[in-house]
Amino acid sequence: MTLPDPEDRLPDPSETPRREFLKAAVALGGSAGLSACVEAPAADPGGAADLADVPTGDPDAVPDRQHAWNEALPTDADGNVRPPRHHVLRYADLGFDPTDGDERAAARETLREALSALERAFAWSNEGLLFTVGYAPAYFDRFDASLPASVDLPAPTALTEMEDPAFDEADLLIHLASDAPAALLSADEALFGDAGAVRSGDREEQVPNLSGVLDPVDRRTGFVGAGLPREHRGVPGLPEDAPIPEEAPLMMGFRNGFRASQATEDRVTVREGPFSGATTQHVAALRLQLNAWWRQESHAQRVAKLFSPVHAAEERVGDWGEKLGADPAVADLPEDAVAYARDSGVVGHAQKAARAREDGAPLLLRRDFDTTDGDHAGVHFLTNQRRIGEFVRVRAAMTGADIADETAVGSRVNNGILQYVFVRRRGNYLLPPRRHRVLPTPTPE
Ligand code: HEM
Repeated sequence: MTLPDPEDRLPDPSETPRREFLKAAVALGGSAGLSACVEAPAADPGGAADLADVPTGDPDAVPDRQHAWNEALPTDADGNVRPPRHHVLRYADLGFDPTDGDERAAARETLREALSALERAFAWSNEGLLFTVGYAPAYFDRFDASLPASVDLPAPTALTEMEDPAFDEADLLIHLASDAPAALLSADEALFGDAGAVRSGDREEQVPNLSGVLDPVDRRTGFVGAGLPREHRGVPGLPEDAPIPEEAPLMMGFRNGFRASQATEDRVTVREGPFSGATTQHVAALRLQLNAWWRQESHAQRVAKLFSPVHAAEERVGDWGEKLGADPAVADLPEDAVAYARDSGVVGHAQKAARAREDGAPLLLRRDFDTTDGDHAGVHFLTNQRRIGEFVRVRAAMTGADIADETAVGSRVNNGILQYVFVRRRGNYLLPPRRHRVLPTPTPE
């Protein structure tokens, strides 16, 4: 039997917009994906086309908090942080016994050197590479000691009555993000392929082979940013004729991540104990089914369901969110979400989720991105928060079972975007501060 040439899975570059081609190259990965995006002509608005144009890095300039990305990212004209356009999630198990001191010491040295090589090769920015290393509860369970009380990291569970998710229990999750697909794939190949080195600018950094340290379990990819969702119309779940505005960064057709609706990096940081400077991460794989969203709902209905019925009635949003500036003002609607749902029969997603704010401040720093993994429209819903329990609370507010109980709004229908979003998998992680990011024990020095 002959295996298909991996490059057969790439569209013809002469007939495909460059953005779409690069996204396909990231999804394909491996050396085929890397050489495809290095060779793809013309510039993407997002990132350098060629590794030679990717800025090199300085490990001394990398912050101690792994989740400190905002300072390294551009902002839009309204001051909202603009996330990197391309993402890879790498799930891996340990390839050694971490309770064996010698094996662990050797593995730590190898992984430490690999991560440092990435930092030397690529600037800590959207133009270079941003990355985090997170550890699952299953990783810490391998040790006799327990995590300190200052870390809230339960195993993932189902969070609504509407879902029956699978749980991601690989030991660790490495999240790689960049505007430059070539940088992203070069890092990915060096960590999990056999490239042995990363290149950028005029620099080449050797990366030690990680086989024996990390056993790859899964690879997921995604994208967020103007133009990208439009190019994936036609994948199951996202109709070919969906009128997604060119400027919209997400498949549902609006921008998100407004500054006033995001937790700050300080708010999501663990403040005490040996892991001070850490954050927790929840990653849910969501499937999107947007046929009715795009074919049956009007623009006003989409605004009502994503933001609130007030936003629709007062035309606050614009075509893709451009009228909202840096604050969608979902927390200070004239009446509460339940009262609105009773009157209008609809409740907005953001309006519901904002009920979980504490002292007026959001608890989650959302860094989600769209995907066509599994050849279906979806979202990798990735958030940081100080405690996983805070995610659970916000998710309950977003689910709005109380609203469905007290009003004519259904448990899914007219209840924000629940009708369109299906939870497939959930996973929880601790992102230790950088000083403990390499295979920590539950009680690092
Ligand atoms: C397809 C999936 C989703 C889409 C397209 C989406 C979209 C949005 C949009 C457009 C906003 C408006 C404000 C902003 O982003 O800054 C928002 C707010 C928000 N969403 Fe989502 N969302 C999705 C899933 C979720 C999920 C699964 C949660 C789980 C908890 C969630 C929690 C929130 C929160 C906490 C806010 C901010 C509320 C506040 O202002 O305090 N979202 N979302």
